[in-house]
Amino acid sequence: MDGRKGTVNFSPLYFFKLIPVLSYLIIYRGGYALDKLNVKDLPVKGKRVLVRVDFNVPLDEEGNVLDDTKIRASLPTLDYLLHNNATLILVSHLGRPKGRVVEKLRMDPVGRRLSQLLGREVVKCDAITGPAVREALEKLPPGAVLLLENVRFDPREEKNDPAFAAELAEMADLFVNDAFGTAHRAHASTTGVAAYLPAVAGLLMDKEIRYLNKSRENPLCPLVIILGGKKVADKIGVIHHFLPYDCSILLGGGMANTFLKALGHDMGKSLLEDDKLEVAREILEEASRSKASLLLPEDVVVVEELRQDSPYQVKKVGEIPPGWSAVDIGPRTLQRFQEVIATARMILWNGPLGAYEYPPFHRGTEMVARAVAAADAESIIGGGDIVAALEKLDLSGQVTHISTGGGAVLDFWEGKDLPGLAALQDRIESQSPA
Ligand code: 3PG
Repeated sequence: MDGRKGTVNFSPLYFFKLIPVLSYLIIYRGGYALDKLNVKDLPVKGKRVLVRVDFNVPLDEEGNVLDDTKIRASLPTLDYLLHNNATLILVSHLGRPKGRVVEKLRMDPVGRRLSQLLGREVVKCDAITGPAVREALEKLPPGAVLLLENVRFDPREEKNDPAFAAELAEMADLFVNDAFGTAHRAHASTTGVAAYLPAVAGLLMDKEIRYLNKSRENPLCPLVIILGGKKVADKIGVIHHFLPYDCSILLGGGMANTFLKALGHDMGKSLLEDDKLEVAREILEEASRSKASLLLPEDVVVVEELRQDSPYQVKKVGEIPPGWSAVDIGPRTLQRFQEVIATARMILWNGPLGAYEYPPFHRGTEMVARAVAAADAESIIGGGDIVAALEKLDLSGQVTHISTGGGAVLDFWEGKDLPGLAALQDRIESQSPA
């Protein structure tokens, strides 16, 4: 009889075979449903790397970069690759030129700003693919940076044309996507190229995935979600996603006006969407049966005419004078919002709570920003207006994560699969035995 029969073999090989299963359990049970390979997982030394960046930055009248936040956000990825002597081929969109060359939307100012930030030359190419790019690449020494022209000048980009994606891919050995802000777009430079090259996340993309995924899949409770901005349509999906959670959803801005009118209040001439009243009613009805509490303004700041420093009054909702408009949350609402925010362990925020661009109607947004920064909570902020508000108040360092995404964050919180993320190599699949 074999004396070893029935004994358990603890060979280290068994442990290695279990790694994919263990990582699956750790990652999914911890709520991290997305785990993508990143640029540090693949050898990059001396490789040509196509990096999709989101350098869609605001420009002034003279064409200078007004706010370089998005460029700076990709520097860790670019520095890492350059440190490893990789040659960088950077591709981004700028604005919405709709497949045509628009002189004002060329990438030159972005290239100049990037060169200052990197402290090295950035070669700007006036083409996106083809002989001019090949020629520029041949002249480029290893470890240099080439910035392609605005990828949306080519109509094939937004159509996710496979031939265009193949042209982009043929220049490189590896594709790194660091453009979280564009991850909700299925374009040739965000998803198409991944069919032709090993495709991994950049360090910014990786960071965005980790913070946002936790906020969506495994949020800390009490959870507070603050939604503002003009359009109900942009935020409906997010409200739906979080209704089953034990959370508070605070609504402000133009979208709150639509909900208040749906409740039967006369909102005067307030900015609102009459064609979304039915949707708002449905959400209010659903919310009344859900775990979440939906908080709407109870008082508002109103003006007869919206302009900077125009005279204003504070009115209870339901008492707005005919012909006047609600342009900010009122003091009672602010106090209620501040009290709820102070109880949070996690806060998610997208969209301003008033006509932020017309002081003093930025007050509600700014006071809420201060409350978010002061809360003992993980705070995740998306969307340019709030990021600008935090920067102006010098509070950016007091929130946990500022996302570079606007629409991408909303789609993500809504529970949608972002095509730009789906195209990247999954860590678990890549570790599974063949
Ligand atoms: C953004 O600014 O939100 C991103 O760059 C995406 O731009 P898009 O909405 O034009 O695709």
